Amino acid sequence: MMIRTVKISPFPDQKPGTSGLRKKVPVFQTPGYTEAFIQSIFDSLDGFKGETLVIGGDGRYYNRHVIQTAIRMAAANGFGRVLVGQGGILSTPAASHLIRKSGAFGGLILSASHNPGGPTEDFGIKYNTSSGGPAPEKITDAIFARTGEIDRYLIAEIDDVDLDQTGTFEAGGMVIEVIDPVADYADLMETLFDFDAMRAMIAGGFKVTFDAMHAVTGPYAKEILVRRLGVNPELIYNATPLEDFGGHHPDPNLVHAKALFDWMMADDAPDFGAASDGDGDRNLIIGKGVFVTPSDSLAMLAANAHLAPGYKDGLKGIARSMPTSGAADRVAEKLGVEMHETPTGWKFFGNLLDAGRCTICGEESAGTGSDHVREKDGLWAVLLWLNILAVRKQSMIDIVHDHWASYGRTYYSRHDYEAIEIDRANQLIQALESGLSDLAGRQVASLTIERADSFTYHDPVDGSVSHNQGLRIFFEGGSRLVFRLSGTGTSGATLRVYMERHEPDPSRHDQETQAALAPVIEAAETLAEIRKRTGREAPTVIT
Ligand code: G6P
Ligand code: ZN
Repeated sequence: MMIRTVKISPFPDQKPGTSGLRKKVPVFQTPGYTEAFIQSIFDSLDGFKGETLVIGGDGRYYNRHVIQTAIRMAAANGFGRVLVGQGGILSTPAASHLIRKSGAFGGLILSASHNPGGPTEDFGIKYNTSSGGPAPEKITDAIFARTGEIDRYLIAEIDDVDLDQTGTFEAGGMVIEVIDPVADYADLMETLFDFDAMRAMIAGGFKVTFDAMHAVTGPYAKEILVRRLGVNPELIYNATPLEDFGGHHPDPNLVHAKALFDWMMADDAPDFGAASDGDGDRNLIIGKGVFVTPSDSLAMLAANAHLAPGYKDGLKGIARSMPTSGAADRVAEKLGVEMHETPTGWKFFGNLLDAGRCTICGEESAGTGSDHVREKDGLWAVLLWLNILAVRKQSMIDIVHDHWASYGRTYYSRHDYEAIEIDRANQLIQALESGLSDLAGRQVASLTIERADSFTYHDPVDGSVSHNQGLRIFFEGGSRLVFRLSGTGTSGATLRVYMERHEPDPSRHDQETQAALAPVIEAAETLAEIRKRTGREAPTVIT
């Protein structure tokens, strides 16, 4: 095998964010850019000679090209085997499962998640470890450090691999297996959920619709929902993965999945509607006439998980990211299990899951998952909901209202201000942060501030500490306001403002969310001067 050593200079902007390195496609197309990052990953790892590497992506533009490059570089660097999803496709949770199941050393996941795709849109590369989860900060910091000094990459001269045929062959001194990306994952789902009960519910007329948003979950939905569960194929939308996601944002939120939302609120709505994002790890869950926020979904899934075979022995604990609402905390308290609050980013759940300190995790950013893999999992959330519905034999809206009646309702919303100038965003955060210690006791809107801080996470498993994970303002009576800057954007800065208010009284559980949160929204503006400092009159996205 011919291995070439190609000289390069470091690129200064290869710092992994919340979830790997994300940039516009033309940036990744800069000569040597993609290779420099992949080589920096390999250079930061030890002991992979002869081992297995999983490679897959969400099918977006540039996916196939980078897969070929990654295969050549894996061979040149001494991996013994690569597993690649057919068509270059592997949903993020399926990749996580495959890494675990195959005993791989790690995996490269090529995705920019819910960001748009296409020649001038977003691309991303993320490294996952042998646990199947995103590399922890210790590793991403080492990768970043390496990108600052890299001076060469190694690449094997092998022909393009035919990604469209499954099969095993050898090239460049390495075994290459192109595998069915769906089968193993679908089998895993069958071990967790009661497929007979779900099949019976669906055969009995329960209507399920799913929007794959022209992203990676199309083939998974066809196999699991249609073929194994009997969902009407006409109710599965946008099930063919496209490189540009049909020109849409594959982001299952109330803006980008508005058509689904509108239908679910109409008289002729199906019983259950869901969508997933670019790489299949996020979920949107809507019942006929009722939208379930991701924070509520986490709480409700945790409260009912024991109804699914995979969780029949109960939960070891629950974990949520800090900005996620406290709804799940109330469930943990009732169940008498541990509750963990981590920084934003699925990687922070990894240690807790590995140590058996929690079973179910979730984030306000539409991610829910469990210890079955080490990524959040969109279809898993859909299936757990369907399993619960099949056992409880109640409508979504009844289950949701029952939950609120038992635990109280936590009104929750996030306001995003996208693509604002980085300096302006930093100044807003700095101004707020410098005044935090004086806030206790202050009156804003109709609320009184109880305390405020910048969130620091102490990992209870490995003792690592993560500072500056978001500014929190707690009000008397249990309302909370959180400010942080997104770590996943590719242009400018995105300010996220998270608001919540707990309402125990069932007679007040039917308010419109923004109205119910009005005092907290007003407090956010007063405290952070969002309009003045961002120059924006209103949020870009409200979820
Ligand atoms: C990705 C990560 C999530 C995280 C989300 C939002 O999807 O996998 O864990 O919650 O990004 O991150 P951001 O930094 O944009 O708020
Ligand atoms: Zn995603």
